[in-house]
Amino acid sequence: MNIVVCVSGGGTNLQAIIDKIADGTISDTKIVGVISNNKDAYALTRAANAGIDSVCVSPKDYEDRDKFNKAFLETVDKFNPDLIVLAGFLVNIPKEFVERYRGRIINIHPSLIPSFCGKGYYGLKVHEAALLRGVKVTGATVHFVDEGTDTGPIILQKAVEVEPGDTPEILQRRVMEQAEWIILPAAIDMIAKGYRID
Ligand code: GAR
Repeated sequence: MNIVVCVSGGGTNLQAIIDKIADGTISDTKIVGVISNNKDAYALTRAANAGIDSVCVSPKDYEDRDKFNKAFLETVDKFNPDLIVLAGFLVNIPKEFVERYRGRIINIHPSLIPSFCGKGYYGLKVHEAALLRGVKVTGATVHFVDEGTDTGPIILQKAVEVEPGDTPEILQRRVMEQAEWIILPAAIDMIAKGYRID
């Protein structure tokens, strides 16, 4: 299975995928391309270090959203992927993209959906909201992407304890280590082995 990984920042989830392909945890899968909307994303360095093709497609380089959406879609199409993995990709996904690749796009979200998800909940903001609400358990979710924000069918979830004294940064790191870096590679492996939505 050929996959494209879309990133915006640090790329620790991309790294987890690279490492788990290398150690055989993810079977029969190759990352054929990494797409970033941010040219300064450290994820691009991770891709280069692993010898993976990468491209930056930034909304800033296009006159309007339609032109960006078209360029983004063309970039994905060129890689001809079986699966597209949104691994910390913080861009609104064009509707045409969801239509063309329905059932073949997955996303990792750093909470137990349906808590702390939807518009405005991304990155550290998710953990800030969880701490503010005082939840004692949070986690991460891998789901298929549909037209909504974090509304598609859930593939895997993993719970993580909130601990006294947690800051958003500490909690984010624990959720990554104990949930995201495990369930995102696991979901990719499931799909490589034939898992589909009903
Ligand atoms: C991860 O925590 C991911 O779950 C989150 O952004 C972070 C990216 O980290 N994604 C979202 O919030 C999507 N709504 P990374 O670049 O180190 O993988």
